[in-house]
Amino acid sequence: MLLGILLATGLGWVLFVWMPLRKLGPTAPSGAGAPFGRVAVGAEVYAANGCASCHTQVVRPANLGSDIARGWGARRTVPSDYLEDHIVPLGVLRLGPDLADVGERRSDVRWYYRLLYDPRAIYPGSVMPSYRYLFARVPLLGTPLPDSLPLSGRDAPPPGFQVVPKPEARALAAYLLSLKRVPPTEAGKTP
Ligand code: HEC
Repeated sequence: MLLGILLATGLGWVLFVWMPLRKLGPTAPSGAGAPFGRVAVGAEVYAANGCASCHTQVVRPANLGSDIARGWGARRTVPSDYLEDHIVPLGVLRLGPDLADVGERRSDVRWYYRLLYDPRAIYPGSVMPSYRYLFARVPLLGTPLPDSLPLSGRDAPPPGFQVVPKPEARALAAYLLSLKRVPPTEAGKTP
């Protein structure tokens, strides 16, 4: 009986403690720091709007897919990348590109506002929904506000008005801009 108990506990330890630790590699945070302030709020906006139903945040290793060749990241993502995140929207379906490293590819906050307001203005025929409710139409008093959207054509607001991002859009854009993976050397030596 004693042997049985020892075996059961030992096997449990090997399977559920030792093997996962070996597989996950170094579990120290990657050094990017925990998201806070606007970025942390942006992660909630991302989750609430179902972005993860079309976008993943996992870059696969070069031998398991074309993610790196497509420019979705310079390296694969490792467990320590997510260690300090409260919301980990890995996603399961890729109707759109992977966003694990999107802040590295797109660094202009206005580009994100434009995309969220009307994806089809950037990608004609895109299936990405527009998130206009994250923006407000406000009266134009004198010169446009610094972050008012440069809209033209069918998106243009009526004369005397301008479109500005609401706090949710600002937070979401800050979150997307923050999606950068630190260089491989700092991120632990997981294969
Ligand atoms: C119905 C699926 C769908 C949903 C939901 C969706 N997207 Fe997209 N997204 C796409 C597709 C598809 C593209 C690629 C553009 C294209 O070719 O249509 C894209 C492109 C993008 C890009 C540009 C990526 C790059 O590499 O340039 C960003 C950033 C983005 N989406 C963010 C978001 C955010 C943030 C949300 C949630 C608020 C969201 N998406 C929701 C489908 C979606």
